[in-house]
Amino acid sequence: MTGNAIKLESIMLRRLVPVILAAVLAACGRAEPDDGKVHVRYLASPDVGGFSKVIIDRFERANPGIKVDMIEGPSSGDARENMYSTAFMAKDDAYDLAYVDVAWLPKFAAQGWLRPLDDLLPPDKAAVFLPGDLEGSRYQGRLYRVPIQSDGGMLYYRKDLLAAKGIPVPRTWAELVAAARKTQTADITGFVFQGKQYEGLVCAVLEVVWGFGGDLLTPDGEVRIDRPEAVAALQALVDAIYKDKISPQAVLTYQEEEARNVFQEGRAVFMRNWPYAWNLMQKEGSPVRGKVGIVPMVSGPGGRSAATLGGWGFALSAYSRHPEEAYKLAEFFASVESQKLAFLQGGILPTRKALYADPAVLAAAPHMKDLGRVLATARPRPVHPRWPRMSDALQLHVSAALSRQETPEEALQAAAVEIRAAAAR
Ligand code: GLC
Repeated sequence: MTGNAIKLESIMLRRLVPVILAAVLAACGRAEPDDGKVHVRYLASPDVGGFSKVIIDRFERANPGIKVDMIEGPSSGDARENMYSTAFMAKDDAYDLAYVDVAWLPKFAAQGWLRPLDDLLPPDKAAVFLPGDLEGSRYQGRLYRVPIQSDGGMLYYRKDLLAAKGIPVPRTWAELVAAARKTQTADITGFVFQGKQYEGLVCAVLEVVWGFGGDLLTPDGEVRIDRPEAVAALQALVDAIYKDKISPQAVLTYQEEEARNVFQEGRAVFMRNWPYAWNLMQKEGSPVRGKVGIVPMVSGPGGRSAATLGGWGFALSAYSRHPEEAYKLAEFFASVESQKLAFLQGGILPTRKALYADPAVLAAAPHMKDLGRVLATARPRPVHPRWPRMSDALQLHVSAALSRQETPEEALQAAAVEIRAAAAR
């Protein structure tokens, strides 16, 4: 069996495991602790920095009848998506809320796993949130998510290293390559990004594809990922590793945190990452504290700078026995106070428009205006109920190109075939 066939099998297995587990789960219900409180349960990523616990603590003090069970799951978003899918397929009430990535929402909503929120959050109340985050919370005209965290990918750079060589901040792919080549050393690599086979790879690649004037899937359903612009973009990323040698081959194993660690240790000039990395890099003791700048991702010939729109929010499980209490928690996390805390302590970008002009926030976080510029370039991944399947296909073939098992053209042609099939089903 070829490497790709094995990988494809493992992807199919990954998608099948939830189906099998769901059948097992369907038999069991959730046991409630006997403490007289209503328990609201959800699955989250590890609470790095501990700010979610602070918000939960405040919520529980304000709502003594409710206990929040935040289950800190694996840091891999793909794994958490599987865990939610498993429970929901079994119509299990394991989770009252789902903390969902913008990328999962169409699938979860199309499956009927989420309760529409239009009655609880009508348009006039929802208008306080950023339009992109609201858009990403809707499916077929209905609202399914309270936006909690906004997100957009961008380019981090070392101000000190560029200044030492008199190099301006790059705005095009060619300038990025040239600047990286001039500043990198034996110990400091040029450019790190998320190159592992997972959802984050698709986010990073899409920014380059859009930057080169390409696209993946147009809103009217045309698959364009095999067009020359997209092929040129993927070629640029492959060249970054093997020809320009500005990216180490190790990027093939990097998710967000691996890239951040290398950059934060002072071992890279440029990095593609999300806003959360900023705060961690400014912490006391961080070798790059005060030395980092951020700009929208560079563009290639014929394209425009673009950020992949990310973001997270609370959706209400259709199987929850405590929807009222669960929604209260979602609202609490979306409040001005909680969003301020999450941003100032955890670097989590707010979804409330007003916080981008809040004097206290601007004083505490001078980089907020740069973040605003990045978000202005944000573009969503295709809003499609079979996005996880499309993403799997793209991950598989882009990854094969980055490890030189397929040429960029072969990779994107193969991905396009699978994406067209998924779109047509
Ligand atoms: C960030 C984004 C999310 C994306 C993920 C990929 O968490 O907010 O939308 O899917 O990164 O790793």
